[in-house]
Amino acid sequence: MTFAVSTLLSEETIRDRVRALGEQIRADYEGKNMLLVCVLKGSFVFAADLARAIDLPLKIDFLGTRSYGDGTESSGVVQITYDLARPIADVHVLLVEDIVDSGLTIAHLLQLLRTRNPASLKVCSLLHKPSRAKIEVPIDYLGFSIEDRFVVGYGLDHAETYRNLPFIGVLSA
Ligand code: IMP
Ligand code: MG
Repeated sequence: MTFAVSTLLSEETIRDRVRALGEQIRADYEGKNMLLVCVLKGSFVFAADLARAIDLPLKIDFLGTRSYGDGTESSGVVQITYDLARPIADVHVLLVEDIVDSGLTIAHLLQLLRTRNPASLKVCSLLHKPSRAKIEVPIDYLGFSIEDRFVVGYGLDHAETYRNLPFIGVLSA
């Protein structure tokens, strides 16, 4: 099967928003011992751009999760596929997500990381689909709210493909 992809958020639109988020985060975290946690795989592109938009001496770590099969619906089961390399006690942790959809992944990660006693724990998500929420989660920094469409590109996949598109698009069969 082949798919056509139409643009929802252009490279330029994303770049401007990421720059603004970076400035906001810099102001809030100035002087703090900060760790960006990139939630793999979907947020690898966003986290790379966001990290360079935050003008602070921060650290970066990675956490792998899987909540989707190869379809476009959440399985509802969140698996940790790769854990953080270092403890986070007394560290100001900012979780970087590609998208909050049902909210199940972020809710699970917040619960897990809280048990490790970080100095603070906040969430930055590039995208949010509010109409799909199954559980309320706090999003401290948000790029864009979008409608209930399955999106790909800028790190987001469909069955592991399209992550390298430089923009965010919508699949149409
Ligand atoms: P949640 O647990 O339902 O909030 O979903 C979180 C994860 O599902 C995200 O980190 C994405 O990897 C994936 N996801 C949700 N919606 C989309 C989408 O529209 N396109 C691609 N991946 C998605
Ligand atoms: Mg995914």
